[in-house]
Amino acid sequence: MSISFEGRVAIVTGAGGGLGRAYALELARRGAKVVVNDLGGARDGSGASDAAAQVVEEIRQGGGEAIADGSSVTEFDQMQALVARAKADWGGVHVLINNAGILRDKSFTKMDPADFDLVVKVHLLGSANATKAVWDVMREQQYGRILMTASSTGLFGNFGQANYGAAKLGLAGLTKTLYLEGAKYNVRVNTLAPVAATRMTEDILPEAAFKLFAPENVVPAALYLVSDDAPSNAIVGAGAGAFHTAWVTMNPPLFLSEEDRTVEGFAANWARISDRAGDFVPQSGSEQSQAILSAIQAALKA
Ligand SMILES: NC(=O)c1ccc[n+]([C@@H]2O[C@H](COP(=O)([O-])OP(=O)(O)OC[C@H]3O[C@@H](n4cnc5c(N)ncnc54)[C@H](O)[C@@H]3O)[C@@H](O)[C@H]2O)c1
Repeated sequence: MSISFEGRVAIVTGAGGGLGRAYALELARRGAKVVVNDLGGARDGSGASDAAAQVVEEIRQGGGEAIADGSSVTEFDQMQALVARAKADWGGVHVLINNAGILRDKSFTKMDPADFDLVVKVHLLGSANATKAVWDVMREQQYGRILMTASSTGLFGNFGQANYGAAKLGLAGLTKTLYLEGAKYNVRVNTLAPVAATRMTEDILPEAAFKLFAPENVVPAALYLVSDDAPSNAIVGAGAGAFHTAWVTMNPPLFLSEEDRTVEGFAANWARISDRAGDFVPQSGSEQSQAILSAIQAALKA
């Protein structure tokens, strides 16, 4: 079975290097027309360059079709202009990979609020901007595939990355509501937590691991998650050729009688409240309320 992107128009943000470049090259190789977006800044978000144009050149040399876009995901009007251009040139937008990102790592105690602000602005608001700009186009087409880029830091935490982690888990949260709103329109939304050797990780990953963690090893997961048969609302981890899923779960609620419904009663029942037996994956927020009501009904019947 071969997975084709023939006839599809794809936007990849932050595709001037690293993971985004690898996604853009493979999308184009499989027939997509690709908008290569990248501001071309440094790892901390400063400066600008023609990184996007270089990747477009690579795609064209390989016989593919692409256009470069040097705008910033932090500017909604620029994202609207980018989508309008893709639509005007190629008639629609079918795939959006929100990949652009920066790092401003510091322990929280040393972190300047401006560094928190900018990291959230690029990752979380930047992805919301690009997604908002394509959303109505995808709804009208009755077809859309959107990928958010999270991180193990967002899902599980990492010392020195409070700003980045907050933004990255925010993206998993954005996925969880957009997958519900997009379902009726065949718009599917997923979250990817990659691990790859790029300039973002060059001072973290040991040199020997660099080849193993080539961005190309993340491409199979990213492209499947924006393909025709993609699932929706999945959280997928990928790195060095290993792949997994991650889940937001809850356990069955424990109903406390009025007598036990005190701080002391909560403390006395903490072991049961935090017991993961019976964990399940709610498909929407309302399932939490339903589970609470079920717990109350069961307790009142007993
Ligand atoms: N490399 C990893 O192990 C890893 C792990 C978890 C998550 N990620 C995420 O994967 C994505 C890609 O990262 P990468 O490792 O390829 O790093 P990278 O620095 O090579 O790529 C990020 C790209 O985004 C671009 N960019 C930054 N700000 C932008 C803006 N405002 N508008 C447009 N483009 C902008 C940069 O110029 C850069 O080319 C990021 O979202 C990153 O947080 C990477």
